[in-house]
Amino acid sequence: MSPKLKVVFVGHVDHGKSTLIGRILVETRSLPPGKIEGLRRACAAKGQTFEYAFVLDALSEEQEQNITIDTTQIQFRSAGRDYVIIDAPGHQEFLKNMITGAASADAAIVVIAADEGAREQSRRHGQLLRLLGIRQIIVAVNKMDLAAFSEERFRQIEMEYAAFLREVGLAARAFIPLSAGNGENVTTSDGRAMPWFAGPSLLSTLDQLEVATSPAELPLRFPIQDVFRMDKRRIFAGRVESGTIRIGDLLVFSPHNKTARVATIERWPGQGAEYASAGESIGITLSDHVFVERGHIASHETDAPAESNRVQAKVFWMGQDPLLVSGRYRLKLVTQDVECQVVGVTNVIDAATLDSASVERSELRTNEVGDVTLQTRVPLVFDNHDSVPSLGRFVLADGEHLLGGGIISGAIYTTRQPIKSENIFWNESAITAERRAAQNGHRGAVVWLTGLSGAGKSTIAAALEKELFQRAMHTYVLDGDNLRHGLNSNLGFSPEDRAENIRRVGEVAKLMADAGTVVITSFISPYRADRQLARESALKAGVEFVEVFVDAPLAVCEERDSKGLYQKARAGLLKGFTGIDAPYEPPEDPEIVVHTHQQAPQESVGQILEDLLPRLRLN
Ligand code: ADX
Repeated sequence: MSPKLKVVFVGHVDHGKSTLIGRILVETRSLPPGKIEGLRRACAAKGQTFEYAFVLDALSEEQEQNITIDTTQIQFRSAGRDYVIIDAPGHQEFLKNMITGAASADAAIVVIAADEGAREQSRRHGQLLRLLGIRQIIVAVNKMDLAAFSEERFRQIEMEYAAFLREVGLAARAFIPLSAGNGENVTTSDGRAMPWFAGPSLLSTLDQLEVATSPAELPLRFPIQDVFRMDKRRIFAGRVESGTIRIGDLLVFSPHNKTARVATIERWPGQGAEYASAGESIGITLSDHVFVERGHIASHETDAPAESNRVQAKVFWMGQDPLLVSGRYRLKLVTQDVECQVVGVTNVIDAATLDSASVERSELRTNEVGDVTLQTRVPLVFDNHDSVPSLGRFVLADGEHLLGGGIISGAIYTTRQPIKSENIFWNESAITAERRAAQNGHRGAVVWLTGLSGAGKSTIAAALEKELFQRAMHTYVLDGDNLRHGLNSNLGFSPEDRAENIRRVGEVAKLMADAGTVVITSFISPYRADRQLARESALKAGVEFVEVFVDAPLAVCEERDSKGLYQKARAGLLKGFTGIDAPYEPPEDPEIVVHTHQQAPQESVGQILEDLLPRLRLN
């Protein structure tokens, strides 16, 4: 017998949902022996006519009293397979259960009464199914007896509701005219009352639907729950959420893309195995030494999960206080537990009334469902809910309080080619300057040293870099002589070349600072206009630009002449030397001025730090 199909019945209150379920239970002989007779007797005693809807009521009542029976488990069986009816007492409960994974439905039966036709609620149910991604839908046009079994009436409802489903992006597998009250087309289709309908009964149509793929057939997802050290071995323990893991498999661990082979698989206690499948709790050892910790997800290389700092999800909110845009919550997805911030909320639906609005919102209130964009602090590993349900589902919490549940859609998968390149799966745009700064503990900036050759720029740059580095800051010096060996090796000292030299340095410094580094540039940069362009470029990118005039009189620089170039220039062996036969335009309004002929290098560096450090602090 094939696996169970989980089906939910939805419909307007009076359209005969319970009667239909009761009829199915009775006709498929799915009730306990004597049940139906008992009910009939009870009705007769009260002078009531027996109704099929009572079957469901009686069953629910009994289940409520008998806690050993799972209340959501009403089952029936056709010749072809077993069915489980997913209880949908109210949209609210149903939505909550579906979203949090407490229940899941493979298919839905929408019940519409032929005499009344599709109502507003029937439409909302369509939206609900769309929302939850239930794509196998059968429309039962019930109470055909009250519409004189009219084909015309049936076709009209079929046409109208099919058009509506198309509008919301759904299509019904079948429309079936039936009567739950007198049994037409429910489990049999002998065509007595509706000879014009040639299709199979509701039950036969249900038998045609597909059960969701079993977790074992899905891609491997093995979230690491714990790492145990035993002797020299490290055992990675967890539950196989989906797929199958085998000895010798090459695993890729997200989010860091480390790869390693499975050496052993152990089912507790100390019991080896060749493989393990979805649902099993196991421990594995690896043949390569890689750093793996709780929250990492193992998969096969070819079918890896998605990974990003941004997640789009349908969130069902249960918290008493609303979910707020820019609010921070804990997001728990299998063994991952990460901090996230709400970026946006839209397309909100009230779970009780199914009223919907597609506007941007600043919050999501209790019992509302909405499209929520979340930004996580560290990369999150996940799947789209319709690909791998267990990794497409998460909860939002505040400490230990469960506040909401979400299902993920729209994730983009990238092929993993680990080893070659790390981090290429990161959603680049999501890493803002603030987040880099937060990770580094300081902001990036450009510290632009300018001054004559021999003024002491390189000395100060090196000493400043050391000071920053010792404070565990990310820092780097871009030096004129050095860059002229590489990036700027094609440039000389004509005003045009110097302009180009400074333009390139300005751009590189800006990028590095944007990446979070405190960049110290050490260039004569004799022209005010060139320095101004570098400043503007940095400011445009939101990067702080600190101009430091490293000042020393020409005579002092000339006397120092550490490279012997002034001498060459004076001798006419070097043309266009700054200060001799090429201009130097001192800054008019620099952030900092240090006088290297009056202060020791350490003093100059101290003065720069005093001004600079507050600028690098996090807001
Ligand atoms: S800039 O003017 O374009 O900013 P940069 O700082 O890159 O100059 O390079 C200056 C260094 O190049 C000096 O420290 C010196 O060692 C060397 N140099 C060679 N020729 C010249 C020149 N004509 N003028 C200035 N510096 C020169």
